[in-house]
Parts: sequence; C-alpha cells; structure tokens
Amino acid sequence: MMIRLRHLSKIYRSGDVFVPALQNVDLDIDYGEFVAIVGASGSGKSTLMNIIGCLDRPTRGVYELEGHDVGRMNDIQRAKVRSRRIGFVFQSFNLLSRPSALSQVELPMIYAGMGDRRRRAAHALAEVGLSDRMHHKPSQLSGGQQQRVAIARALVTDPALILADEPTGALDTKTTGDIVGLFERLNREHGITVIFVTHEPEVAEHTRRTITLRDGRIISDVPTARSTVVQFPGTVAPAAPAAQAAGEAPA
Ligand SMILES: Nc1ncnc2c1ncn2[C@@H]1O[C@H](COP(=O)(O)OP(=O)(O)OP(=O)(O)O)[C@@H](O)[C@H]1O
Ligand SMILES: [Mg+2]
Repeated sequence: MMIRLRHLSKIYRSGDVFVPALQNVDLDIDYGEFVAIVGASGSGKSTLMNIIGCLDRPTRGVYELEGHDVGRMNDIQRAKVRSRRIGFVFQSFNLLSRPSALSQVELPMIYAGMGDRRRRAAHALAEVGLSDRMHHKPSQLSGGQQQRVAIARALVTDPALILADEPTGALDTKTTGDIVGLFERLNREHGITVIFVTHEPEVAEHTRRTITLRDGRIISDVPTARSTVVQFPGTVAPAAPAAQAAGEAPA
C-alpha cells in the first residue's frame, strides 16, 4: 500500500478555538491509483492533501507513506521524502515570475540532488507538450500553459505520487479538459499515483475513485462510475466473452 491513514485527525488551534479539520480518517490508496477528493469548502480537502504530501503532520493517528511512518519523521526527513517521491501542482501554478519555463523545471532537481538537469527539464516540458515554449517566462504563457509548466516541474523528479489541489480551478473548460487528460496520461502511461482535489463533478468523473469529505470526515469513497465503462476498455473487455458464454450456456 502506498498511502495508509489510520484514525487520523488534524486539529488546528487559533487562540482558544480548536478547529477539527480532519476527524478519524481511515484511508488506503494503492500504487497507480487515480483519485479525486471532493467536498464543500472547509471540509478538509487541502488539510488532507498537505498531510499526504508531508507538508504537515497529523495531530493524532498514523500516516504511513510507502511503509514509513511520516508522523515520526523530522522536518529534514519529510523534506527528503517530498523532494524524492512527491510532485505538487497548485491551483495558482506557483511559478516564479522571472525564470524561463526550462529554469523553473530544473529547480526541483537541484533540491533533489539530480544531475543532467537541462536535458531532463527539456524532456519533461516535451512530455507536457511545451517543447516550443521552453524559453518563455510565465507572463508570456497562457494559464493552461503555465499549469503545464507546473506539471512538468512536478514530473521531472520522477515522483511516485502527484498531488494536485484544484489544479483546474483557475482554468476554462477546454483547458481544464487538456490538463485532466494530461494527468490521465501520466497515471496510465507512467503509473504515477495521482490524487487531485476538485470542485467540478465533470473533472472528478475522469478519475477512477472519488472520495468525498464533509466536516473533516470521509462520507463516501466509491469507484468513479464513468471510468469503468468508458475509459478503461481493458478492464471491461473480459466481460464481453463472459457474457457471451453465459448467453450461450442455455443453447
Ligand atoms: N492553518 C489553519 N489554522 C486554523 N484553521 C485552519 C487552518 N487551515 C485550515 N483551517 C480550517 O480547517 C478546515 C479545513 O480547511 P481546508 O483548507 O482543509 O478546507 P478545504 O476543503 O480545502 O476548503 P476549500 O475548498 O475552501 O479549499 C476549515 O474549517 C479551515 O478554516
Ligand atoms: Mg482547499
């Protein structure tokens, strides 16, 4: 199991007020999954993403990432896990304003201590369809292109897990479709586990599993209906001969 949460709670304190942002969450997410997290504003989605991403620690309960107890790691160990295993994508892209796309994508490799950075960065930008925009700055790119740079930056360290908190929140419908399609491809072709938060039901529909939060609790965790029919013919294909065989049996 890649991600394992047990009785996990996160309680924020501001002054005398305690805010239970997550309460008794149990959750398993395996390698290669493609998951949407949905729920009303304030339901705990970003809190959950921050904990899964090792940016924050639970108040109570256990979080194991790839068998390691994150709650017991110190800041340096968590930073190491983040830079080696996890890529982050945010609603607001979080790009630096001055460097070129190529330089931005090289940055996480410096933190991860990786070599051959220019070539890898160019490759990641090609992967997201931006070969012809490598030397552009964010101000010279569209919103969708900026988000592609951010995805290339998340991708370039070869992470096992990509976490995206409302990655399409600032994009129009067409661009949203492109970006979701890109995540789908990274999941399918590279086997990267992808977890994203979204407010849009039609975006959640593209994943294979939808987890709904309310008031810091998981109130629903179901396979996404559409994907079993439309997106993964490989998984439904065996059903056809089986149905046929069943149909033939009486004859
Ligand atoms: N640093 C903090 N200090 C105190 N309370 C916080 C903090 N961060 C979040 N909260 C509270 O925790 C709860 C969950 O917040 P969270 O940001 O996880 O919600 P969300 O589901 O991501 O909402 P949105 O859809 O608006 O982004 C909210 O009630 C919020 O006010
Ligand atoms: Mg949020």
